Amino acid sequence: MTLHVDRIDLATAAETGVNPYLAGPYAPTHDELTLANLEVVGEIPADLNGVYVRNGPNPQHEPRGRYHWFDGDGMVHSVHIADGQATYRNRWVRTDGFDREREAGAPLWQGIIESPRDNPPGEPEKDTANTDVLFHNEKLLALWYRAGKPYALDPVTLETLGAEDFDGTLRCEVSAHAKADERTGELMFFDYGVRRPHMRYGVVSPEGVVRHFVGVDLPGPRLPHDMAITERHSILMDLPLYNDPEAARHGRFKLFFDRDMPSRFGVIPRFGRSCEIRWFEAAPCFIYHSVNAWEEGDEVVLDVCRVKKPEPRDDLAGPLASVLSYLRLDAHMHRYRFNLRTGKTTEQTIDDDNSEFPSINNRVLGRPSRFAYNMHISPESTLLFDGLMKYDVSTGAAETHWFGEGRWGSEAPFAPRPGATAEDDGYIVSYVYEEREGRTDVEVLDARDVTAGPLCRIKLPVRVPIGFHATWVPGERLPEAQAN
Ligand SMILES: [Fe+2]
Repeated sequence: MTLHVDRIDLATAAETGVNPYLAGPYAPTHDELTLANLEVVGEIPADLNGVYVRNGPNPQHEPRGRYHWFDGDGMVHSVHIADGQATYRNRWVRTDGFDREREAGAPLWQGIIESPRDNPPGEPEKDTANTDVLFHNEKLLALWYRAGKPYALDPVTLETLGAEDFDGTLRCEVSAHAKADERTGELMFFDYGVRRPHMRYGVVSPEGVVRHFVGVDLPGPRLPHDMAITERHSILMDLPLYNDPEAARHGRFKLFFDRDMPSRFGVIPRFGRSCEIRWFEAAPCFIYHSVNAWEEGDEVVLDVCRVKKPEPRDDLAGPLASVLSYLRLDAHMHRYRFNLRTGKTTEQTIDDDNSEFPSINNRVLGRPSRFAYNMHISPESTLLFDGLMKYDVSTGAAETHWFGEGRWGSEAPFAPRPGATAEDDGYIVSYVYEEREGRTDVEVLDARDVTAGPLCRIKLPVRVPIGFHATWVPGERLPEAQAN
């Protein structure tokens, strides 16, 4: 039976206990595959060479207790494109927790909705490395949204090379959404947690050594998800969404959004000391993802996808209510300007349409940019993406490629054309789940004209479960022996 649980009303799912995040397009896959010479409809552009890779949750065992979508073990899915041919691979990230559960033949941890009481002593959560993936210093790094060990992976074989400690220099954890500056080769990162100072920030050198590391004093434990960089600064977030202190005292997790607390953005010079952080206040909100940031005169400009309703839903009942109440995405493009001279913040909506999982041309990360490529959130389900929007952030205008009936996209990185100078001279690459056939395509779009539809479709004979973040590794940046 094909169960399109994504279309089930959340209230029904909550009451019946059918967990939609273990079925249909979200159902975990069990085989690790290498599939070469994939069928292509149309033609892969001759100058598109590299690796498209996406991370996501994929539990290796039947979960114990109520499963939250964020709980699954990290699995990366890649399509390596070289000389007009495409090869698909998927591999679990071999985290410590994954290896121990594999040896045990069963889960040792329960997910975040359940009490951590029965989890391994001193390890309330399993570090799954399931959230983000980026490329730095010839390796992929798989990162976890709760801040954990960065796991290094081979960018072509996807083999786990091990937990990355940057030559023994890493003194903290690393959250999802560290930022690699392609021009300098530096990697800016943060972590966060319940212990003071509640956040830490650092810079890894192009050679892979932590060169800078400072504490960031927050008023209490927070749940930041992303950061941003400019050429000279990094921007850290202190947002009024946190674990309810009463629930935390009982070792439980319950999100609380404090409408009386401002959002705060900490602007720190890239190699700045803790005392050099400048905090800027703005209206309360939550932000999963930044789009880009840059400097304009005295101002730091920050574009984000700003969440409209951060509170969990309170209208669901039943065994899965707490799982489902958080799983909602509704965000819009929003711009902040932080004036370093006056200390003032201004903010404005760029566009009020629902979109998230933004990508940009990584070559302009931290520099003034004009284009963002966002997933349009389907009105049918807040976790399914029905179109790829190309935003002109200078005007808020968007052009949209709609994936079509029963086709759902995934975060779509920008693949620059070799030698390109224009910001949008390149391709957009996305997994698109084909619901009727229960499998996945890779669509390749011309970033200069997304409404023209795909230049080609690479047909996977398998389904890539709906997941989280993706990146593109250009062929010329792959270690030489692996470029083809
Ligand atoms: Fe994220």
